[in-house]
Amino acid sequence: MRENQRVLILDFGGQYNELIARRVREQQVYCEVHPCSMPLAEIRDYDPIGIIFTGGPHSVYEPGAPTVDEGVFSLGVPILGICYGCQLLAHLLGGEVVPAGEDSAREYGKTETQFDAACPLFQGLSEESVTWMSHGDYLSQIPEGFTVSARSERCPTAAIWDAQRRFFGVQFHPEVHHTAGGSVMLRNFLFTVCGAKGDWTMADYRSRTVASLREKLGGGRVLLALSGGVDSAVCAALLAEAVGRQLTCVFVDHGLMRKGEGDAVEAAFSRRELNFVRVNAEGRFLRLLSGVYQPERKRKLIGEEFIRLFEEESRKLGTMEYLAQGTIYPDVIESGGGNAAVIKSHHNVGGLPKDVGFREIVEPLRLLFKDEVRQLGRELGLPEAIVSRQPFPGPGLAIRVIGPVSRKKLEMLREADAIFREEMAAAGLASAADQYFAVLTNLRSVGVMGDARSYDWAVALRAVSTEDFMTADWTRLPYEVLDRVSTRIVNEVAGVNRVLYDITSKPPATVEYE
Ligand code: XMP
Repeated sequence: MRENQRVLILDFGGQYNELIARRVREQQVYCEVHPCSMPLAEIRDYDPIGIIFTGGPHSVYEPGAPTVDEGVFSLGVPILGICYGCQLLAHLLGGEVVPAGEDSAREYGKTETQFDAACPLFQGLSEESVTWMSHGDYLSQIPEGFTVSARSERCPTAAIWDAQRRFFGVQFHPEVHHTAGGSVMLRNFLFTVCGAKGDWTMADYRSRTVASLREKLGGGRVLLALSGGVDSAVCAALLAEAVGRQLTCVFVDHGLMRKGEGDAVEAAFSRRELNFVRVNAEGRFLRLLSGVYQPERKRKLIGEEFIRLFEEESRKLGTMEYLAQGTIYPDVIESGGGNAAVIKSHHNVGGLPKDVGFREIVEPLRLLFKDEVRQLGRELGLPEAIVSRQPFPGPGLAIRVIGPVSRKKLEMLREADAIFREEMAAAGLASAADQYFAVLTNLRSVGVMGDARSYDWAVALRAVSTEDFMTADWTRLPYEVLDRVSTRIVNEVAGVNRVLYDITSKPPATVEYE
């Protein structure tokens, strides 16, 4: 079957690499991120229509700085270097890169930049607009064959191009929203320079993946742990289309889902052509969590119990050749490295044991970004409530009830959270924040209801706006909506007499409370 045109993104360790890939895919052009050390033969085999060098934290003149096989310049393929990628391109082709002194060409943040309209990258843009800069080095001398195509007050070489070889370098970051014409620049590079057709669509991906799954899995049985989250749900729908009843989905309902969620998952899948098993394990999880205060302990206990239950079920089901997982592209890119401190140990069904006797793990979404997974879900006819579901932590409401979890507390939280969601939807704000939910704090305080004193729990409302959940800003929700939510919660949820709105960003707070 026909392959898509492909763009290759070579990774030099920049913080926005994943974003570059997303921006390219948004233009319906398929791309993949690979390490900059990718051997030339593999680059050639990959047969890209264009190559992008990403940014990175290094300086090209440092010993051991990441580089690329210089044969890449002889492939006849257009190249766009971004930030470090621009400096490397210039450095390897004979230009000169030097550290910018404190008061000279070093730039950080939004920067007025002038563009040369003759350069195809800047076609359709006004001659001056804002770009996002973040560089300590700059090009003091551009390589032969290149022309300067953009400048800023402090940086005379903000962009360069070689018309003949179709090489482009930009000091700024076109992938970041703060660069006003960034998506036009990327579009120009892809369509005008590389000749992209925009042939990456979900309908196409669906039919190709279904065909290749059928071929790969043959008559083999496949087991999938369904969490109710978007990724595993879309993975299930895709596999169901490919192999139907050879697929068994095990949905371990830990009783820590939001209101009505467990039933919604069951309703969406029990009618499809697949085997669906729901394991109701609320009692087991509640017993396990009883009296447990520590967030990390909760997370660990839930993760382990989840695996135990899943193993018990898969033993009952007999031999399965394949274990399917809803791993998505950001997980793949991010697992490339990282010695970051453990802030919270994330529990996902993705953490299932791989040694329970499966022939192979199948991950049909491992090349898709989250928004693409959602698109695919719609394409496969999954209900919107599942497809547009906000991220939900694996340990569920257990980490939104601060301190020990009990059935009663979960009930209070479920009701408060449902009210919050209902009111957001009623106000047309369902997508105004990237994630929002209620938390049952462990704070009790005095209130007055009617003429009586109360001593009840406080609910915190959390709403955040974010691009990647690594950092997040608290969302400025309208007071009237907060007012309605608060009034309804204290009136309708017995045991709650106070509602707080969280106005902390991440960092220093995290999105979840535990
Ligand atoms: P934090 O609280 O770390 O959350 O700022 C960032 C995002 O991750 C989600 N989250 C989880 N997702 N398993 C998950 O699959 C987990 O254990 C987990 N903990 C947090 C959180 O909801 C937010 O979207």
